[in-house]
Amino acid sequence: MKRDAAGGVSGVEVRPVFVIEDGARAEVYIGDSRAVVPSIPECAAGTVDLIFADPPFNWNRAYDKWDDALPEEEYLAFTYAWLDVCVSALSPRGSMWVNIPDDWAAEIVVHLKKAGLHMVNWCIWHYRFGQNTQARFISSKVHALYFARGADRTWNPMEVLEVSDRRSIYFDPRTESKRDGTPAGMRLPMDVWYGRYWGRIQGNNKERMPDHDNQLPEVYLERVVRACSNPGDLVLDPFLGSGTTGVMAHALGRRFIGVEYSDKNAERAAARIGRGPIRRGEGPQSTAIFSARRAGPRARAGNGGAFSEDPESAQGVLPLAGYRVKRPLRARHRSGA
Ligand SMILES: C[S@@+](CC[C@H](N)C(=O)[O-])C[C@H]1O[C@@H](n2cnc3c(N)ncnc32)[C@H](O)[C@@H]1O
Repeated sequence: MKRDAAGGVSGVEVRPVFVIEDGARAEVYIGDSRAVVPSIPECAAGTVDLIFADPPFNWNRAYDKWDDALPEEEYLAFTYAWLDVCVSALSPRGSMWVNIPDDWAAEIVVHLKKAGLHMVNWCIWHYRFGQNTQARFISSKVHALYFARGADRTWNPMEVLEVSDRRSIYFDPRTESKRDGTPAGMRLPMDVWYGRYWGRIQGNNKERMPDHDNQLPEVYLERVVRACSNPGDLVLDPFLGSGTTGVMAHALGRRFIGVEYSDKNAERAAARIGRGPIRRGEGPQSTAIFSARRAGPRARAGNGGAFSEDPESAQGVLPLAGYRVKRPLRARHRSGA
């Protein structure tokens, strides 16, 4: 192992420890991604189409092996080193996502811009069950930073549409006659992400993996993988954890490479990738936070009112998931989202 100029490590020969071959090939490597990623041939060749990175936040979490309480300077050096190896692995049309809390988002944005990546969105993953506190406002978000190698990137908006508020709340006919090719009543999600199945994966969640208290929801990775890669593309997660990225990439027919520091986590993640996702075929949903503005067949179909009693969807969001208008309203106005 040798150190590179950025303080990372490279030049290690590595082999995947777990390989899942039913469908698109998925590989799991064990080790420090700063050393492992540059040693994987596809990464060294810069052919990764999509990277999703959810690194340790340095919040003193009891990871199986990783020390999650580094001195700040050391954590930042670590961060810049893994960012750099990921940037080098990215293909010309590739995208890179980083899931990161307030503490480090700014440093990462600046670093990736300096590395020449182009910022597409600064999304927020919003959840309702943050840690209670009296000393400051309760944290209820993580940043989902979306960068691309260049302006020409893989982007599949039609894969990730959701039901428009104009349909589910306001019955606005403009949304039923879009002129930009978007199907009636649908729109792209906004850049704040929440809703049914979007909560933190707590103990009573069907998705929950043992011994992993910072697992991301499947719907989050489904959105990222669908929007930013095509079947057959190569997806990399340098911090595999419980394997959520691998599960969704593999289920959606993408080739996958995951790197995980803990051999125990890696083994469990590989098994999870082989089993596949828990959530299937949920379909486009509404993320409306207000009930329908008037009564009527559509309002009744959309439940317009009480909070959901489903503990897994208890996001404080009205239960409009899966709500669809059967007969679109006649178009009277110009199209709108
Ligand atoms: C925040 S968790 C990832 C959670 C994952 N997104 C999921 O949904 O389960 C971070 C993971 O990175 C692993 N890790 C920490 N440092 C690492 C490193 N230098 N190289 C590879 N993996 C590392 C930890 O063991 C932990 O499992």
